Amino acid sequence: MIIRDARFLTSNTRVELCPPPDRPEYAFIGRSNVGKSSLINALTSRAGLAKTSASPGKTQLINHFLINEQWYLVDLPGYGYAKVSKTARAEWHKMINAYLQRRENLACVCVLIDSRLPPQASDLEFMEKLGEMGVPFVMVFTKIDKQSASQTRTLITAYLAKMNEIWDELPRHFLTSASTKVGRDELLGFIDEVNQN
Ligand code: GTP
Ligand code: MG
Repeated sequence: MIIRDARFLTSNTRVELCPPPDRPEYAFIGRSNVGKSSLINALTSRAGLAKTSASPGKTQLINHFLINEQWYLVDLPGYGYAKVSKTARAEWHKMINAYLQRRENLACVCVLIDSRLPPQASDLEFMEKLGEMGVPFVMVFTKIDKQSASQTRTLITAYLAKMNEIWDELPRHFLTSASTKVGRDELLGFIDEVNQN
């Protein structure tokens, strides 16, 4: 897919205030600092479209981007950041649950997972919740440029084995790097495929 046009639309905390649900929507979620905003910039080839930061917790709102006037890309705040207060964590759950349950045009959630780590409870639990809610999702492993190909292979094989213990059918997965743009074409191709259906 060629990205002809990518622009920021709105930031807000409430699903009712999101843009009209008249196009397929793809939401990026995952632990704080996993690289959600960076991957959005890499996919769209627009540096600075989504705000990134070396310190976790940068993205706090539901951010909508309109791509090719055809579909929405959504940058969500991350989970699993230890330094967040109980109140802030509860607010996050409320906002994300409402978004996942009520956003009717949500075509697929992309769960971003750090390719360098063994399976983390927060990611496994979040994917289980998506399964219970019946929300379609794929796994997007990030930052593969930060280690060797063989290290990535070993970790991903172990991750998929863990997923196999939990899921009857494995969700699709992608290996990506926002730095080298590996996986960009595959992920955009997948979105194109879902958009056609
Ligand atoms: P929050 O909004 O805080 O939840 O974080 P996020 O998931 O949006 O992460 P963000 O894109 O802001 O990236 C976090 C840090 O990781 C930044 O310092 C990025 O430059 C870095 N980073 C993200 N993706 C990659 C990648 O593919 N490769 C490398 N080397 N660094 C990356
Ligand atoms: Mg972010």
